[in-house]
Amino acid sequence: MTEAKKSIAKNSKPFLRWAGGKKWLLKELDKFVDIKNYNSYHEPFIGGGAVFFHLSPQNAIISDINKELIETYNAIKTNPEEVIKQIHSFEKSKDYYYLIRNQKFSNEFKEAARFIYLNQMSFNGLYRVNSRGEYNVPYGYRNNYQFDFDNILKASSLLKNAQIIHQDFTSSIENIRNNDLVFLDPPYTVTHNLNGFIHYNKKLFSLEDQFKLADAINRIKNAGAYYILTNAAHQTIREIFNNGDKMYEIDRASLIGGKNAKRGNYAELILTNIVL
Ligand SMILES: C[S@@+](CC[C@H](N)C(=O)[O-])C[C@H]1O[C@@H](n2cnc3c(N)ncnc32)[C@H](O)[C@@H]1O
Repeated sequence: MTEAKKSIAKNSKPFLRWAGGKKWLLKELDKFVDIKNYNSYHEPFIGGGAVFFHLSPQNAIISDINKELIETYNAIKTNPEEVIKQIHSFEKSKDYYYLIRNQKFSNEFKEAARFIYLNQMSFNGLYRVNSRGEYNVPYGYRNNYQFDFDNILKASSLLKNAQIIHQDFTSSIENIRNNDLVFLDPPYTVTHNLNGFIHYNKKLFSLEDQFKLADAINRIKNAGAYYILTNAAHQTIREIFNNGDKMYEIDRASLIGGKNAKRGNYAELILTNIVL
C-alpha cells in the first residue's frame, strides 16, 4: 500500500449502526495499543468494526457469524462504487423501505446496498430477524439521513488489506500466530451487574460460548499472541475469564434501545495480556 492510500484508509469509520458498538472504548485503547507493534490483527466478532476502523491495521483477518454482514463487507471491499450506485437508486421513504425489506437480490452489490440502506433507515439500526431469518426491523423515519459515500470509499481501501470471513469465532482462532493482536467483543450474555441473562441473545451467545471463548483465549496466548477482550462486568464473567491477566473495569453511560431508551451507568470489563 502506498503512503497516500494508507492515510485514506486510516480516516475511515464504521458505515453501519451496530448494537454493542465499541466507539466508547477507542480512547482507552489508544493508551495501550500501538498497532504497528503487531504482525496481524484479528477481530472474530467484527459487527460494525469500530475498533478495526480506528486501528486501521495493514494486515487483518475479520470475521463474524452474521453472513449478510460479511457479504456486505466483501462487496464494499471489491466494488464500493457499485454498492454506492445501488444505494443511490433507493428512495428514502416508508413505502420504499418496506418494499426493499421484503426483497432479496441475487446481485451481491445490490444486496450489500440493501443491507446498508435498511441498517441506516431502520428504527434503531439493530440487526433482528424473524424465525424465517427475514430482517424485520421497522422503518425509522430518517428521511433526511445522508449516506456518507466518501466514508464507504475510505472503508473499502482499508478492507482491501483484510481477509473477511463468515465463520464462528472458534474457527477464527486457528489463524492466530506469534505476535498477532486479537480484539474479542462477543455479544454480552449476562446483564450488567444484575443476576440475569439477556433474553434476546440467549440463543446467539450462550454461557457455554463464554466458556469456549475463555478456552480460545488460552489458545491465543499459547500461540504467543496478544488479546483484548471486552465483556459485561458481571461476577459470572469475572470467574469464567479469571486467568491471571489484567482485568480492568470501566464505568460508562450507556444508551440502550433507540428512541425510548433509558440512560444508565454500566461497568464494562476489559481483559488483556498486553502489559502497560
Ligand atoms: C457486540 S457485537 C460486536 C460489535 C463491534 N465491536 C462494533 O464495534 O460494532 C458482537 C458480534 O458478534 C457476532 N457473533 C455472535 N455470535 C458469534 C459467534 N459464535 N462467532 C462469531 N461472531 C459471533 C454478532 O453477529 C455481532 O456482530
